[in-house]
Amino acid sequence: MINNTPHDNMIIPTHVAFIMDGNGRWAQKRGLKRTEGHKKGSESLKQLIKDINRLGIKYATFYAFSTENWKRPDDEVSTLMRLFEDYIDELMASADKAGNSRIRFAGDRGRLSESLKSKMAECEEASKDNTGLCVTIAVNYGGKDELAHAAREIARLTNEGYLTLEKITPELIDSLLYTSGIPEVDLLIRTGGEQRLSNFLIWQSAYAELYFTDTLWPDFKNKHLILAIEEFSRRNRRFGGL
Ligand code: FPP
Repeated sequence: MINNTPHDNMIIPTHVAFIMDGNGRWAQKRGLKRTEGHKKGSESLKQLIKDINRLGIKYATFYAFSTENWKRPDDEVSTLMRLFEDYIDELMASADKAGNSRIRFAGDRGRLSESLKSKMAECEEASKDNTGLCVTIAVNYGGKDELAHAAREIARLTNEGYLTLEKITPELIDSLLYTSGIPEVDLLIRTGGEQRLSNFLIWQSAYAELYFTDTLWPDFKNKHLILAIEEFSRRNRRFGGL
């Protein structure tokens, strides 16, 4: 029997990251357009954030749009962009501005519309002092792109004389990522059956426990999250030690 509630022998990870895969297949299986799968996936995300909060997880990061997703048909890209804007509008309309959650966005904003960019900035500003769950939505995010961006920043600071070689440490690199200030990933969950990272949080997941499930993202619910956390609780994390 699946246990739907947190229990004593569960170790709650501090930071859980999600690759929300399978929206398209969820829709196609029902004879619907792929974009309907993204709409349903967006509802799953909202419900899951409530469950994550209840479990006491402190950081949750979601892969919503990768630097490679621009290759998808125009109507799919524009539906996703609209869902991101709608989600922010909904958060901002709530009386308590996103509950007590702090909302951040990770990724290169250069290619996003002015309207989405300004909503992102407004939402980050309005929620920045919230003390609850820190939700990060990765939009136009790529791990390699993020590391290249950090490398360029290091080169610039070095050229301008602010940095010497011995100051280039993993901690410095951490501080130059979109996720600066967020602890590294403890548990990375990918739905939809594929078993790869797809350029998501490649630096931040160096010691993450990976959990793959065939469940498609729109079907991923609290009970599936509990199963993932139970599995995480059984893993023996050694971080390279004994
Ligand atoms: C991958 O499934 C999913 C995406 C590329 C988009 C993820 C977006 C959402 C869950 C909804 C909106 C999010 C927010 C923040 C409101 P896929 O389309 O590749 O599925 P497939 O592998 O079945 O084709």
